[in-house]
This record gives sequence, structure tokens and C-alpha cells, in this order.
Amino acid sequence: MFNNDGILAKFMSVRILFLPDDVTIDAEVGEPLLDVAERAGVSIPTGCLMGSCHACEVEIDGGATVCSCITAVPPGREKLTINLDFDPTW
Ligand code: FES
Repeated sequence: MFNNDGILAKFMSVRILFLPDDVTIDAEVGEPLLDVAERAGVSIPTGCLMGSCHACEVEIDGGATVCSCITAVPPGREKLTINLDFDPTW
């Protein structure tokens, strides 16, 4: 299946798994994580929406933590696990 730019859509779509709710949804590369979460019915706490307060921090694939308000679905991935229930180190 091709999108409007003639690019294979299957390479633009990333399967997102939200933990701990175990909710799966397909997202587009470049789509803001907060928008994906909202579409999935997953609530991520927010504050500044500018990447400063870290209220929206999530863990990606059991590793790096990012501020979901300023992070988009990355390219080159087939799936991504986003954990809202991780142990932050302050
Ligand atoms: S809402 Fe403040 S860093 Fe994302």
C-alpha cells in the first residue's frame, strides 16, 4: 500500500505498545507520542508541553527515557514499546 507520496506505507507505520496498560496501536513516523497515546486512549501526565518539566517522561524499549511532549515516532522501526510505569532516577 502506498501513501500520497508514493512511499510504501508499511515502512512508515510503527506498531506502538503502551505499558503497563498493554494497549497496541499503529502510528506514523513523525507523529507526536502524546498524540499517539491520546488516540490509543492512554493518558500521559503533562505539564509544560515544552520539554522542561519532565512530567510526561516515558521509557522507550526498556532503555532511554524521553519527554513524550517533544518526541515523535522515530523512523526505521517496526515496533516500539513505551512504558509509562517505570522507575525514574531522580
Ligand atoms: S509536559 Fe513538561 S516536559 Fe513534557
